Amino acid sequence: MITFARSKTELSPDLNILFKSRDASRKIMIIISDITEMQSRCLAARAAGKRIAFVPTMGFLHEGHLSLLREGRKRGDLLVLSIFVNPTQFGQGEDLDSYPRDFVRDESLARECGVDLIFYPEAATIYPAGYATYVTVDGPLTTTLEGASRPTHFRGVTTVVSKLFTIVQPHVAIFGSKDFQQLAVIKRMTTDLNLPVDIVGMPIVRETDGLAMSSRNVYLSADERQQSLALVDTVRQSIAAVNNGEQDAAKLLQEARRRLTAELDLKIDYVKICNVQTLEEVDSVDHEAVMLLAVFVGKTRLIDNSLLVTTC
Ligand code: PAJ
Repeated sequence: MITFARSKTELSPDLNILFKSRDASRKIMIIISDITEMQSRCLAARAAGKRIAFVPTMGFLHEGHLSLLREGRKRGDLLVLSIFVNPTQFGQGEDLDSYPRDFVRDESLARECGVDLIFYPEAATIYPAGYATYVTVDGPLTTTLEGASRPTHFRGVTTVVSKLFTIVQPHVAIFGSKDFQQLAVIKRMTTDLNLPVDIVGMPIVRETDGLAMSSRNVYLSADERQQSLALVDTVRQSIAAVNNGEQDAAKLLQEARRRLTAELDLKIDYVKICNVQTLEEVDSVDHEAVMLLAVFVGKTRLIDNSLLVTTC
């Protein structure tokens, strides 16, 4: 039975499927909110020899997300997208309630990218009453940078991603390096728990003026949007300095801070140069390091990063 319901309240007669929709090419995309339904479809696909590619998101899709979906389309026979604004990764006073959402638009973009299944659960489905199990990655990987500023964040991310992996049973999962530390944490978790999932990292997709795409960019006023370009300017200046032979992390960071604080509404949360594997701070960019920044532009917290590579 195929239905063309446009809203989440229009349930398919097949009770476990939220609704099915299809585009002009007659390709069917199915939206599922039920865990058992999702899991049994994915297990059946695996049993039929299909390779499952999975892209977890919190929705409000932009080109960054779509680049992951296009990669997933190449890597899998069945492309699964999850859209779930995960409450456990938001701290007290963060933007859980105001996080931007537009499921109808997301659904249409997903269809254009060839998504086969969207998993779109309610928070109470993922975390029912009595829920008590969390997955944590210990050590500097989760306590520095984002972990220092948002102490419960990675526990929420690793918990939900491991649950999603159990539900979707992917062969391959695709993440963006926009969230560089998140990618490192998920790789660590996948290795440590022997999860049979290949983790693929994809480059940052940027607006034409260089600002890293983010669902949160929508919060920025026109003036803040202009000032936010200081993040990408800083990253670019640091790359140029390293290319010109500067290896001293303290000097690179001093210049980065100077550039960022030149903007009236910018408040630095952190700017650091770290080892790409351990994310521990380095004194010198000897071979390959990563610059990571988190900056408040007004009330909006933006992050960015870039590899700094020397040929020395
Ligand atoms: P979300 O912020 O929606 O991001 C979903 C995925 O898109 C992440 O892997 C993120 O790194 C990637 N992404 C975001 N902006 C990008 C950009 N400009 N270029 C490339 N990739 C980009 O990250 C999360 O959701 C959540 O923490 C999640 C992993 C879904 C767990 O809840």
